[in-house]
Amino acid sequence: AAGKLWGGRFASRTDPALEDLSRSPRDYFRMVPYDAIGSKAHAGELVRKGLLTAGEREVIESTLDEIVADHLNGDIVPSPGDEDVHGYLERILVERLGPLGGKLRAGRSRNDQTANELRLYLRDAARSVAHDTGRLVEVLVARAVEAKDVVAPGFTHLQPAQPIVFGHQLMAHAFALTRDVTRLQHAWESSSLSPLGAAALAGSSLSVDPLAAAREQGFTGISENSIDAVSSRDHVAEFLFATAMLATDISRLCEEFCLWSTIQFGWIKLDDAFSTGSSIMPQKKNPDIAELARGKASRLNANLAGMLGVLKGLPFAYNRDLSEDKRFAFDSADTLALVLPAVAGMVRTFKINAEAMERQATVGFTLATELADWLAEQGVPFSEAHDVTGQVVKHCEMNSITLGQLTLQAAREIDARISSDALARLTVESALARRNGPGGTSPSNIDVQRRQVEAKLSEALG
Ligand code: ARG
Repeated sequence: AAGKLWGGRFASRTDPALEDLSRSPRDYFRMVPYDAIGSKAHAGELVRKGLLTAGEREVIESTLDEIVADHLNGDIVPSPGDEDVHGYLERILVERLGPLGGKLRAGRSRNDQTANELRLYLRDAARSVAHDTGRLVEVLVARAVEAKDVVAPGFTHLQPAQPIVFGHQLMAHAFALTRDVTRLQHAWESSSLSPLGAAALAGSSLSVDPLAAAREQGFTGISENSIDAVSSRDHVAEFLFATAMLATDISRLCEEFCLWSTIQFGWIKLDDAFSTGSSIMPQKKNPDIAELARGKASRLNANLAGMLGVLKGLPFAYNRDLSEDKRFAFDSADTLALVLPAVAGMVRTFKINAEAMERQATVGFTLATELADWLAEQGVPFSEAHDVTGQVVKHCEMNSITLGQLTLQAAREIDARISSDALARLTVESALARRNGPGGTSPSNIDVQRRQVEAKLSEALG
């Protein structure tokens, strides 16, 4: 039957229930351009083997180009009889070229074909996600530089811990996302070996120079083992991990945006263009981008778990279970294509309320560590310094004063070793300036970090 690549040995027609289950989802036909790339490279192998003339190859290639263009225009569409993209393209090729179109199948199987085109797709997808992530990192870095002198409380356990500059917090997210870009680059490299020539599983008896066919497609090499070539999807799992980790990192950034944009925090205001309203409460302005992105992370994590679930316990070589691979890969890539530009827009446009952050920077005795450190510098064992400082905090709390309002006399009643030098340490400026070692929150470190992020980005993105 048209579009069916098998059937000679079957006595009866296939049941519609089987066909419905077996037919590729409509979305899988987006592989048409990639299938054509693999087909052209395979045609080269058939020329080298003497099964096609150079002229026939040219005809096949230009017809494939036309078919791809017609498909993308919507001039041709898969019919219900087309089990998958491979059958679809062969059907149209035979319709247009007659028996010549049927020659292309020699020496290949859908098993190496599908593995080949998924690798081509993953390379494009990894590049594109990495590029979009790079855009987000650039935006974050620009905002971090802008906020390099904006003082804010830093948290552990979401409790006030020590003062930081807000730019340092933004830069922390930039570093995490930059590692995601690097991981995507590794995923790209893992998808860079061509399985073409593995055929069904044992290798093709007609293959001549698969490395040449691989290079024609932009691959850097070929799979070393034909069974591995058609069985393995660890490179898909790698792409899915890189994207799941990226989505997870984005969700952590987004969680902070949700917190910071609350009235209670009041640190940032999201731009109207990147916020939503409520259908009932007219006053509302909601951080939907951040929440949607946070939710999508769960989906990307599920895609990774789904792929690993398919692979677990699956015997080598090809099994139909593997055709789930594309669903996960497409979904993760498509989701990030929506999430990344929206999050980048939100980050590019939010307004910083420096005054609110600064006001909160010392709330909760965030400078207490400065006193403990000062005592330690005088030779007081830190356990003792910690305890003395704890008593100072208790005193301030009981008298409803801040550390800054503590008098020297009150301090010395707790411990006579405390001097005016020590109290002079209890300022945000001092706390920040003293943390100018590598990776510390001193404002002078922001430019250093900017250069580090930029170097890592350009190494990964080229
Ligand atoms: N259409 C399948 C996929 O989506 C590939 C078919 C592979 N081989 C087979 N014998 N059915 O992955």
